[in-house]
Amino acid sequence: MKALILVGGFGTRLRPLTLTLPKPLVEFGNRPMILHQIEYLAKAGVTDIVLAVNYRPEIMVAALQSYEKEYNVKITFSVETEPLGTAGPLALARGILAKDDSPFFVLNSDITCDYPFEQLRDFHLSHKNEGTIVVTKVDDPSKYGVIVNQPGHASKIERFVEKPKEFISNKINAGIYILNPSVLDRIQLKPTSIEKDVFPFVAQDGELHTFDLDGFWMDIGQPKDFLTGTCLYLSHLAKKQSELLTDPATQDFVHKGNVMVHPSAKIGKDCRIGPNVVIGPNVTVGDGVRLQRCVILEGAAIKDFAWVHSSIIGWHSTVGRWSRIEGHSVLGDDVTVKDEIYVNGGSILPHKSISANITEPQIIM
Ligand code: GDD
Ligand code: MG
Repeated sequence: MKALILVGGFGTRLRPLTLTLPKPLVEFGNRPMILHQIEYLAKAGVTDIVLAVNYRPEIMVAALQSYEKEYNVKITFSVETEPLGTAGPLALARGILAKDDSPFFVLNSDITCDYPFEQLRDFHLSHKNEGTIVVTKVDDPSKYGVIVNQPGHASKIERFVEKPKEFISNKINAGIYILNPSVLDRIQLKPTSIEKDVFPFVAQDGELHTFDLDGFWMDIGQPKDFLTGTCLYLSHLAKKQSELLTDPATQDFVHKGNVMVHPSAKIGKDCRIGPNVVIGPNVTVGDGVRLQRCVILEGAAIKDFAWVHSSIIGWHSTVGRWSRIEGHSVLGDDVTVKDEIYVNGGSILPHKSISANITEPQIIM
């Protein structure tokens, strides 16, 4: 089977992390975001994966070559000379997507869930129409594509409206599709939106269905949602793959809830860690440190008695003794926060040194 992942541009909404690494390589649950998707696709029998990007992907090529071998898939970069939106990249990759009559998967690259690819394919083949969209329910649908089913029909879509101004339904597009190659005949090779220029028309023709997602889902393309997605992912692991979490019975620093600590990380004495914390490779955590609802990326150092809440600490950054970081702060690569500093909602660019308090959310460059 075939799949295309809409990787897109530089991931500006996930800055300052994406100033250092392209978004797909930023670690989510201690593994590059894209690796979660590749692994699920490979497990479902996908052998051809197209990564649709609109920047020079050199930095990703090396990382992904090793995954090709590990997961036995062929990964092709499809590089746009101008951003082609969410539909144009499908036309650009037509050579691969339409090389046979079988349907192909399409994924937004910035989402996380327990991907139901096999059930999705079986359902799609059973209704024999052109496309199936995975849907989930959210409280605030205004920043998503919203879907209304045909009255009296469990799965056929009557309307697809991207980011509606007024409430029409709380059923939203989860950013995972399976489409027949015939859909490509509806897409021109130019900047086009699949949500605005393609799906409404496929729905009008009665050719588009929904598939309900079970379990967690999140768009993790911005820091606040990345942290929420991390919480959801960890509680999913607690139910399905608890061996990936740190066992509170053997590690008394695990205070409450779900914690993932890389085996190479070093944790000091009398720490209280959790709930919802991910600690990356070679991180060092001093004594008496309090961590909650946060992600500490590879090589970072959290010094004695520091306190981190609802924040992301970038690779090789240092949080000083008695410092307090909170409010969806994001430290880029190699940032130093001096001792006894307070940071609330700071977005701090790589290589900065912070020696004065940041009390209100702001970007430090
Ligand atoms: N190759 C390529 N080229 N990819 C692109 C381009 C482009 O020009 N523009 C956007 N993308 C990629 C993004 O990187 C992302 O993976 C995906 O397409 C969706 O774009 P976003 O910018 O993240 O859209 P969104 O989050 O506002 O809305 C989309 O996702 C929601 C679910 O998270 C829509 O598909 C909504 O309908 C959906 O509900
Ligand atoms: Mg998104």
